[in-house]
Amino acid sequence: MKPTLANSRILARLTRARLPLALFGMVGAAIGVAPAANAATPATQAATLAPELVPLPAHVQRGEGAFALDASTTIYANNAEARAVAQLLRDELASQQGLTLTVRSGAPKPNQGEDEPSRYVQFVAEPASAKPGAGANERYRLEVTARGIRLAGPPAGLFYGYQTLRQLLPAARVAPPLRVGATTIDDAPRFAYRGMHLDVGRHLFPLDFIKRYLDQMARYKLNTFHWHLTDDQGWRLEIKRYPKLTAVGAQRKETVVGRNIDPYVGDGQPYGGFYTQEQAREVVAYARARHITVIPEIEMPGHALAALAAYPELACTPGPFAVGTNWGVYDDIFCPKEATFKFLENVLDEVVAIFPAPYLHIGGDEAPKTRWKASAEAQAVMRREGLKDEHELQSYFIRRMEKFLHSRGKRIIGWDEILEGGLAPDATVMSWRGEAGGIAAAQQGHDVVMTPTQCCYFDYGQGPAAQEQWNLGGELSLDKVYAYDPVPAALTAAQARHVLGVQGNVWTEHLKTPAMVEYMVFPRLLALAEVAWTPQAQRAWPDFQRRLRGQFALLERDAVGYRIPAPQGLDDALIVQHGDARTHRYTATLTPAVPGATIRYTLDGSEPGEGAAVYAAPFEVVLELDKPVRLRAVSVLADGRRSGVHEALLRYRSYLPAVAKPANPKPGLEYRVFDSMFSDLTMLHASARAPAQAGAADSLDLARFGRSRAFGVQFDGYVQVPADGVYRFALQGDDRSALYLDGEQAIANETYDRTQQTEVPLRRGWHRLQLDWYQREGGMSLSLRMAAPGGELQALDLREAVH
Ligand code: ACM
Repeated sequence: MKPTLANSRILARLTRARLPLALFGMVGAAIGVAPAANAATPATQAATLAPELVPLPAHVQRGEGAFALDASTTIYANNAEARAVAQLLRDELASQQGLTLTVRSGAPKPNQGEDEPSRYVQFVAEPASAKPGAGANERYRLEVTARGIRLAGPPAGLFYGYQTLRQLLPAARVAPPLRVGATTIDDAPRFAYRGMHLDVGRHLFPLDFIKRYLDQMARYKLNTFHWHLTDDQGWRLEIKRYPKLTAVGAQRKETVVGRNIDPYVGDGQPYGGFYTQEQAREVVAYARARHITVIPEIEMPGHALAALAAYPELACTPGPFAVGTNWGVYDDIFCPKEATFKFLENVLDEVVAIFPAPYLHIGGDEAPKTRWKASAEAQAVMRREGLKDEHELQSYFIRRMEKFLHSRGKRIIGWDEILEGGLAPDATVMSWRGEAGGIAAAQQGHDVVMTPTQCCYFDYGQGPAAQEQWNLGGELSLDKVYAYDPVPAALTAAQARHVLGVQGNVWTEHLKTPAMVEYMVFPRLLALAEVAWTPQAQRAWPDFQRRLRGQFALLERDAVGYRIPAPQGLDDALIVQHGDARTHRYTATLTPAVPGATIRYTLDGSEPGEGAAVYAAPFEVVLELDKPVRLRAVSVLADGRRSGVHEALLRYRSYLPAVAKPANPKPGLEYRVFDSMFSDLTMLHASARAPAQAGAADSLDLARFGRSRAFGVQFDGYVQVPADGVYRFALQGDDRSALYLDGEQAIANETYDRTQQTEVPLRRGWHRLQLDWYQREGGMSLSLRMAAPGGELQALDLREAVH
């Protein structure tokens, strides 16, 4: 896929219409296309014995008995580093359990005398290795026996061992002793880079919230905070040499309301703020105490409008510029002239002095070349440097900044656009537009961090838009995050070593408050943490779900406003008509995702409010033929907090009968092309205007239309199936695509980068097939595959279609 401006963050954030309730819509668990996560394996078997830890440690062995921790337990620490972690445990036990323990130097005596305390928690800090491999300094061993708890590892490992120990202690306050089951855990992370990002350019968040974010990251063993500090809509870091960056660039006159981008509607409310250098240092220190590295991002050459509003002389045109009030991608970017490089070097000198991280993120994404193409200054640089196009000019820009940062002892990270025009020699690539950038970079011997939209964009909705409390567009469910493996199959073992790790991104165009950020981040952060930490072979979705249940109590205790997941078992179901039976008895078995939650549900499509049935035990639903039932449920926590409405579509359906073949069939599908900037699939399907172009197509080749932006195509015709059966269809289209069979919508793919599938029972013979697709700008692709019952998906051969 060639990703694009239009279908990137912005399009993904446009209102995502509810997937129409296709009669034979998305395939649910009942017909077996399960999320990509693993089915039961021996690893699952072993893992189910493990306590409810997230992320799951690499090796867990349960022992006999338990350790009973009470006020007589002594904490030992062998040195200052161990004492620092021991102190954390002491403080936590004091605040959460009201137990005040003594911390002593040294180790418990092997043979205890009468007056020795009989029980201990021992922290043993081992020397850190100067040249660590991935995670070598983050390993730990935790042994719990009836006599005591021993935790050993290098300082970072000790800290992570302590995070594990915290999860073994009761979440709620209990009367001592606190029982910790005998266990031996040997643990180390899969990846050295385990990140969370936060965009403070679009909306910014109080320092206390940033710290809370770091606390939660540390709890789940994440070790890198990518702080996105500058963007079109705000410059958020004080730079002493350039005070207007914050005096002007940190303030915008208003913010677009919702998704009113076109036509634009603003809220009329000035918005702004920034972090002082002192505050940024406070964040760095707070993070460091939690073994978290803070990587600042200073965006260049694009997403620079706030800086240009402050210093218009850095642009290619005279300006003036105003700090962005709208989302998206702006044409006005830094101009590649000497004054800009000098400015950026001066800025980065101050940034480098605040952030000790070995990396600095220079952005590099979404930088339109419009201004550079029209700029005499930019063109002169291209001639001087022998650059053949503006992509090479961007590469020149990034290489220059890399060279400068090298001189300051830093390496650069950039979004995957920095591949275009040639990668800077030592750059690490953050792959966000799918995995292609990460694969290409690793193949070129560069380090990569995987943050593809299909796994890692936590501003995407956590379920179908209509079921989400906040309809933020996109869709990235918890199981999809969990199913992600950051090492693409395309890489050799040597190339795979360049995958440093994985990161969740939190863009905040639509997240105005800390509560909204927390809702979007949790519980997906926990799935990401396990992707980042746990060996791939140990991971299994059902076991993660079990362990996740144990984590909610901790999140509740910390008052984290997480999204309450849908009950387990609330899955779409498609049952194909058996014989001529008109009804089917379906048993719904639900388990609350959060222990103790009450599930209320309805079967008539109404809101499951106060009067709705309370789920007590599995119940039967009598499904009538071709009358889909919407099972709608809410979960209500003990404190009264309610989930959004979650929903499953239960269908007992008949075969679609064959239709008549056209009387004078012509080969292929008919196509109709419309020149228009479509923004949703319904609009295209309903298009009644005369097409700009029409003809017959024997393939889904898009190049034949001779267009690259702002058009839509309808394909229409008939295909034949050889026998009665359930046929599977898989559709992917960049930007958007929809499939109709015999007039009914089968798939509406509201994503540009994911394939969506459905299964449809079809009678032998001809069926009408309509395919809608539209393009806004940037990359274009369309693929429709079909599988016969029990067969593999194959591209549909349209030479056999007629119209
Ligand atoms: C990005 O989402 N533009 C990196």
